[in-house]
Amino acid sequence: MTRNSPSSHPPLFHVPSGRSPDVPISLDGAPMLAFPGETVAALLLRSVPSDAYRRADPLLEARAPLCLMGVCFDCLVTIDGQDNQQACLIAVHPGMRIERQLPSRGAV
Ligand code: FES
Repeated sequence: MTRNSPSSHPPLFHVPSGRSPDVPISLDGAPMLAFPGETVAALLLRSVPSDAYRRADPLLEARAPLCLMGVCFDCLVTIDGQDNQQACLIAVHPGMRIERQLPSRGAV
C-alpha cells in the first residue's frame, strides 16, 4: 500500500449495510432520499461534488462543510426557504427542501 493509495485512508462516511435511504427530500428542486437522522451536511457531502457545494463572497470560492460541529459556517444552505442555515446542525425531515447557495440562485 502506498501512502496516497485510496485504501490508505478510511472513508469519510460509512453507510451501514442493510440500511437504505427512505426520507424523501428535495435538493435544488430534485427529489431524492436521505437516511433517517442524517444531517443535511452529510447528505450533501455524499451527494454533490465538493466544488459544487457552495460559493462564497467575495471571490466566489468553492466552500464545503469543514468542522461539522457548527463553528466554521462553511456549510450554509437554504432549508425550507430560510437562507443561511447550518447544514451540519440540522437533520433531514420528510419533505425538507434544501437548496445550495450558489451564484446562479443569487444567494451567496
Ligand atoms: S460545517 Fe462548520 S459550521 Fe457547519
